[in-house]
Amino acid sequence: PPLSSILNTFDFESIAKEVLSPDAWAYYSSGSGDEITLQENHQAFNRIFMKPRVLVNVKKVDTSVELLGTASALPIYITATALGKLGHPEGEVVLTRAAGTRGIIQMIPTLASCSIDEMVAAKLPQQAQWFQLYVNPNRNLTIDIIQKAEKLGVKALVVTIDAPQLGRREKDMRVKFENDAPDVQATESLSRNEGAARAIAHFIDPSLSWDDLKWIKACSNLPLILKGIQCGEDAVLAAQAGIEAIIISNHGGRQLDTSRSAVEVLQEVTQALKHSKLENALEIYIDGGIRRGTDIFKALALGAKAVGLGRPFLYAMSSYGQRGVEHLIVIGLNDRIYCAKSLKLP
Ligand code: FNR
Repeated sequence: PPLSSILNTFDFESIAKEVLSPDAWAYYSSGSGDEITLQENHQAFNRIFMKPRVLVNVKKVDTSVELLGTASALPIYITATALGKLGHPEGEVVLTRAAGTRGIIQMIPTLASCSIDEMVAAKLPQQAQWFQLYVNPNRNLTIDIIQKAEKLGVKALVVTIDAPQLGRREKDMRVKFENDAPDVQATESLSRNEGAARAIAHFIDPSLSWDDLKWIKACSNLPLILKGIQCGEDAVLAAQAGIEAIIISNHGGRQLDTSRSAVEVLQEVTQALKHSKLENALEIYIDGGIRRGTDIFKALALGAKAVGLGRPFLYAMSSYGQRGVEHLIVIGLNDRIYCAKSLKLP
């Protein structure tokens, strides 16, 4: 169907399901365990209702925001999702280009199908990127990656902290099993487009703890964002550790099943920070299940500064390429309030 007939994120999802290979669909769409958290990520937004105030002048609306000092046309960013070439032959550079023309931030994944060099090369001069880091068991390798990312000009380092072990994603495991794929965990070197979730586990250090943030911080001058905070107590620890921003996230329902939704945890986090007089200590972002402008609004109203979207970008990229991703970014938004111009972006 023509792109103009795509009205919402769910339209992209149904087309992606048709065009993706069964293993790509399984890897992108699956959650862990019984997928209770995956469903809850959506239900939690649906349980929150609006209290509209009327007779407010909304003729001019500015959706732009600064995230750790970096301008973004909208309070959304493209979160890190591994293995982009499962969905599109060019992989994550498709997301880079669309983020550039639409003026939003792309989080570059450690486990992308494209190299960080390719993703940085694909960006526009003023375009901002963050680098998502999985801390490798080999510390020297991790230090090299951080310093490389800094040299390449990324604006922040996002450390994913909710995957000390990879979640059991049974849909993904079954497809692999049925296809009789080679056991990538047993192979020495990983072809990054093969083997999906199980292959990834090897690259993540299960010993990572709060103490490690000190040496991670010392490796570069980049602001640090922790991705995967899931309670008020840990948000307070992050603020006390001098972290610049947190992302409340359950990894899109792909890690510990029956974890709470980010939007529910958000309310606990803002209260805990307030209670510890740390409410201005860090910026708060959330991700998981955001599919509508109203979801974004609810997150912001409850105290988030921005939200990340994962699967919707993969589905738009897989079905329509760059144009699809660009369409997704402005979907449901009035073009008049799309303010790339005010950001002096092309
Ligand atoms: C992810 N996510 C993720 N997060 C991360 O820090 N590093 C990674 O490599 C990946 N890889 C990844 C692959 C796929 C296919 C998905 C769907 C997700 C998690 C991601 O950043 C984010 O937390 C969720 O995707 C947000 O939920 P929604 O928007 O997909 O509902």
